[in-house]
Amino acid sequence: MSVTPVPGSKCRAFGASVADMAASERPLPPGRRGFPVIGETLSFARNSRQFGEQRRQRYGPIFRTHLFGQPTIVMSGADAMQFVFKNEHRYFSAVWPYSTRKLLGEQSLSVQCDPTHMQRRKLLRQAFAPKVLAAYVPEMERIARIHLAKWRAEGRFAWCSRLADFTYHLACSLIVGDERLLGLADTFQTWIQGLFSLPVPLPWARFGRAQRARAELIGGIEMTVRERLRDGISPGARDALSVLLSASDEHGEKLSVKELCDQLLTLLFAGHDTSSSALASFCLLVAQHPKVLSRLRAEQSGADLDGPLAIDMVERMPYLGQVVREVLRLVPPVGGGFRTVLTPCEFAGYRIPKGWRVHYQIHSTHRNDAHFAEPDSFDPDRFGPERAEDRHTRFALVPFGGGPRICIGMEFARIEMLVLGSLLLRDYQWDIEPDQDLTIDSMPVPRPRSGLIVRFRPRAS
Ligand code: HEM
Repeated sequence: MSVTPVPGSKCRAFGASVADMAASERPLPPGRRGFPVIGETLSFARNSRQFGEQRRQRYGPIFRTHLFGQPTIVMSGADAMQFVFKNEHRYFSAVWPYSTRKLLGEQSLSVQCDPTHMQRRKLLRQAFAPKVLAAYVPEMERIARIHLAKWRAEGRFAWCSRLADFTYHLACSLIVGDERLLGLADTFQTWIQGLFSLPVPLPWARFGRAQRARAELIGGIEMTVRERLRDGISPGARDALSVLLSASDEHGEKLSVKELCDQLLTLLFAGHDTSSSALASFCLLVAQHPKVLSRLRAEQSGADLDGPLAIDMVERMPYLGQVVREVLRLVPPVGGGFRTVLTPCEFAGYRIPKGWRVHYQIHSTHRNDAHFAEPDSFDPDRFGPERAEDRHTRFALVPFGGGPRICIGMEFARIEMLVLGSLLLRDYQWDIEPDQDLTIDSMPVPRPRSGLIVRFRPRAS
């Protein structure tokens, strides 16, 4: 998902009766409450990554704090990730604020709870099956080429917003299968801006404007869904909508039109900012590391890439794959996730009380030197066959989360990065303009503060 969810309401406390007696005798993790009422929310909201990193150095991989009005335990490190992911639905449940739930829709995968959540995931996963993803590649290439040509014509621009246009275009075409939604790009932004706002339903307030934007977006999506139903469902995987219209669960049940609209809007949201943040980090880090860039270019020259891209070609770029993995490790688009504690439990000798929040931190886990050598440096070779640092410890590399809520679009995102990356490396040159502020702002997703101003031109042959 594009934004770290903040705590709000939770799924039904399911299986919450198995209290762990030993847990109640353990101490709480170290940490502080911060200011009355707001706790340490301001420091967290200012920079969640720095917040986690500073406290991890002070207290270790598990500490307590108070965020968004809730006592919260923050965890990082591979063992903690494994503990949180493996105990989803048992000790923990995903939690979202009221405004997010209302704007995503009650039938969105992100807010659904077990057992509905697992049933819907099974069904939605059909739109991201390997064969279906392979069928998306030509459309990804077509859209990438449209945007590359625009950037070439522009010559100099702030790349982050252009990359967001690209991932939105891709999502409109490949998720909903309707480019008319491109005309609602501003409405989509208004809706996104309300997702984590105060739930004030007044027409001029962020939330009120986002509610109207949601109605417009759902209206557009529903029109497409109804047109497809009227015209008859054609076989084949044109886009996620075409797959989902034919998909049914093990009882033969299909998604209702209302639920389909909520799920498509969720996929548009979840796959848009996250991917554009990852692409911006890729473009920046590669430009800052000329040796990596020349190895990438050499791989492209030797990869026999004549003709349109196909999934087997995309998979024939192992070094580009390593670079993408390293980008997602060093600058994970999602900083972490929140859960509510359904059942008291203990971890690393500390008590985790029922009703508290748990925040798992991806960024701090990726920067842990117990898992990665020199974790602050950009070093794609760490994922090469000789070192394979990601294979040493399970759950050390978790840019897409883990367990029952692991990102459903992770392969889609990876292929999208490989397709655009390959075309960029083969045919274009980009130079980062000097005198710009490249500090990474982490909210809602990491991006250079300046917007990443570049000069863009075709590569000299
Ligand atoms: C580089 C790009 C992406 C990153 C880093 C990313 C990361 C994540 C993470 C960390 C989660 C888990 C959140 C949690 O534990 O609460 C997640 C969930 C999710 N992601 Fe992604 N994501 C990306 C792209 C996408 C794309 C392209 C799509 C769809 C087209 C997508 C759809 C979803 C959905 C629907 C969920 C919720 C899954 C559930 O609750 O069962 N994501 N993503």
